[in-house]
Amino acid sequence: MSIVDHHRDLDRVKPPRLAGIDHLEWWVGNARTFAGFLCSAFGFTPVAYAGPETGRRDRVSYLVEQGGVRFMISGALHPDSPIAAHVMRHGDGVRDVAFLVQDVDVAYDAALARGGTGLRPPADDTDAHGTIRQAAVATYGDTVHTLLDRRRYRGPFAPTFETTDLISPSEPLVGITGLDHVVGNVPKGALGSWVTFYEQVFGFRSMQHFDDDQISTEFSALMSTVVWNGDSVVMPLNEPADGRKKSQIEEYLDFYGTSGVQHIALRSDDIVATVRALRARGVRFMGVPPDYYADARARMADLDLPWDELQALGVLVDRDERGHLLQTFTETITDRPTVFFEIIERRGATGFGEGNFKALFEAIERAQAQRGNL
Ligand code: FE2
Repeated sequence: MSIVDHHRDLDRVKPPRLAGIDHLEWWVGNARTFAGFLCSAFGFTPVAYAGPETGRRDRVSYLVEQGGVRFMISGALHPDSPIAAHVMRHGDGVRDVAFLVQDVDVAYDAALARGGTGLRPPADDTDAHGTIRQAAVATYGDTVHTLLDRRRYRGPFAPTFETTDLISPSEPLVGITGLDHVVGNVPKGALGSWVTFYEQVFGFRSMQHFDDDQISTEFSALMSTVVWNGDSVVMPLNEPADGRKKSQIEEYLDFYGTSGVQHIALRSDDIVATVRALRARGVRFMGVPPDYYADARARMADLDLPWDELQALGVLVDRDERGHLLQTFTETITDRPTVFFEIIERRGATGFGEGNFKALFEAIERAQAQRGNL
């Protein structure tokens, strides 16, 4: 059924109530090294592991955590695994943005009544530590939203997961304090229908829309709409727009093969300390155009900021009517030029660094040109 068939149900059935993002699951070629990389480079702590030793025969998963941000990293043990097929098609990427809900059955029924596609009906997942009830619905590309309720579960993460003995260096501390937003890329012309999907299926609202005249450079452009649940689930969506050369969103879609998660923004309360620690751990960040800081210092001369330090670390600054924010972006962390992290410190601002988009894309396009994909 298409979304338009559900107008009656939209009035009748309330959208699922989301309590937040529980975790993101990555499907990768080598879960052990990917999890190890997130720990050694990004300061995550390994928390739990599931695999043959714990009774799972087809895959291994590591759960890593920092400041309430939880990533589950899964890899295939056999060539016929759906994880292996996913990695062959997309490379390493985010498979699941898992939502916490109060009532999985009510949320799943509501999502389907409002036009969503069910992938897994609600079922209990139980071990000696308790029960997690979960279901899954489809979203853009091969990405899914698990809906889960873990209030009856007391174990380290989920059934079959056991505390891991994987260790990682703890110094220097990175200081990620939470998940700020998760951004998806969709093909040209598809932005409107995916905004409608989140509005209808999940009852999200549109927060902001940016047109290609606001977010463009000489070579490429994008359009973006921020959809959110009015609380902690913030999911901006991008689509490529016409430029003289290939847009970086287009490059993502070419290499990922479909729509998918493009970047994950991680919060810090002290971005200077966080970025310094990440750089010391070997994380590489996108370069900032040299004239960016002369312009930014002039534009935001009234703000008391450590400009020299921000410039040395490549941290960008933007402001809106509510305050300012500091942000920076890593290089893509996958082999294919697809997924990257943003580090963001909000000082009142509720935007997403629109004023920095142009500067960001100029930097991205320099890297894209070096790969011969512009
Ligand atoms: Fe972002």
